[in-house]
Amino acid sequence: MKIDIKNHDLQVDGTPALSLLNNFLVSQSPIHTVCGGKARCGCCRIKISKGQESMSKANEFEKVRLGDVLLQEGWRLSCQSYALRDLEVFMPKGKDLEDFCSP
Ligand code: FES
Repeated sequence: MKIDIKNHDLQVDGTPALSLLNNFLVSQSPIHTVCGGKARCGCCRIKISKGQESMSKANEFEKVRLGDVLLQEGWRLSCQSYALRDLEVFMPKGKDLEDFCSP
């Protein structure tokens, strides 16, 4: 599957066998993680702009960390989510990232 990271002008190949975070790490995409994928830091947050229907359902960690409003807006923790087909995502950087990434 293709993951189009629109705001970084980057398209990477991914596999449904890995979480989105691991797909980003394998492809050396500019994703951030402090907790290493344990759903604690929130730094791996991305917003799905296309392909929402191919995403895994939000798990309890995402529900607690993000809440209903952000989930409904398309935000996900990439360390907790998987996709079956192509996606288009927004990957925060700079000030956007600092606002919710807790070390
Ligand atoms: S990597 Fe820390 S919450 Fe996903």
